Amino acid sequence: MGFVPPSSFPRGWYLVAWSDELAPGQAKPARYFGRDLVVFRTDAGQARIADAHCPHLGAHLGHGGVVTGDRIRCPFHKWEFDGASGRCAAIPFTDRVHPKAALRLWHVHEEAGMILAWFHEEGAAPSWDFPAYEALDDRQWTAPSEVSWEIRAHVYDITENDVDCAHMPAVHDFTERLPATEARVEGPLMHVVMRTEVTLSTFGRKGTIEAPAHTTKVGMGLLLVKQTIDTGRMTIDFRTIGTFTPIDEDHVHIRARHRVKKVPVPFMTGMIQKNYSDTFKETVEQDIPIWENKIYRDQPALFVTDGPIMRFREWSRQFYSEDAIEAAAK
Ligand code: FES
Ligand SMILES: [Fe+2]
Repeated sequence: MGFVPPSSFPRGWYLVAWSDELAPGQAKPARYFGRDLVVFRTDAGQARIADAHCPHLGAHLGHGGVVTGDRIRCPFHKWEFDGASGRCAAIPFTDRVHPKAALRLWHVHEEAGMILAWFHEEGAAPSWDFPAYEALDDRQWTAPSEVSWEIRAHVYDITENDVDCAHMPAVHDFTERLPATEARVEGPLMHVVMRTEVTLSTFGRKGTIEAPAHTTKVGMGLLLVKQTIDTGRMTIDFRTIGTFTPIDEDHVHIRARHRVKKVPVPFMTGMIQKNYSDTFKETVEQDIPIWENKIYRDQPALFVTDGPIMRFREWSRQFYSEDAIEAAAK
């Protein structure tokens, strides 16, 4: 029996907000995994994510909820909930608290400018930690530039794209060759090296140059990319964080941030970053119509020109429950 992606919500870590979008004391609404959420940061700086609707009479805490110390206060009747446990911590006009009323808190991890939520269909605790990400020195690296989309697709189809080397020259302009692609699995991580040749038109020159991209896929929701281009005159280093968070069963929020290691001439740094970001944007926009209209082929007619697609499929099974895989295969 083959494997069919059984759900739009594979288990794992997903971006819910960038760290710089949430100041201490701030609360905001979010909608992911088909659920309404409130994202807030305590006054001490701890990022929290909870189901949005108040257990009392159902107000949305992301619309008018107020952070008070480590708590969040509902706008409707001003009940307060503890940010660490979710429990009701105060009710106006009484010294007592409701013994059972509690917000459902999500497991949160903050890393490298990302506020990440752990998704598990039954709310189970994380079964793996988000890997530590290199700290980039702000003096040496540019501030991130960002692109984002909301598209009609499944995270599965988007993330399989990273090992699909045959689509690179077919769909994308930046390369004309089939890139050699290697994939190595490390538990919930998949390391992919794609030896892409990019056209030098970006630098106003003719020809192509090797620009190997080292991608670490972190579950189904994220990828961390290191890419280096050695033009002969200078070496340019890029870092990209690409995130794919399901909004609901049929939609995904794609967000990506790029940083470039500063080169000695400041205006060149800005130009390189803009170019890279524009090329990335164009690249994703070439993929989107394919992702939005394709189907999942359980038994694809693969050929030697394809990348490690079946290896990817084996790896991806770990993010789904056995029950869901069995049910989807029937
Ligand atoms: S609905 Fe939240 S306090 Fe009443
Ligand atoms: Fe692509």
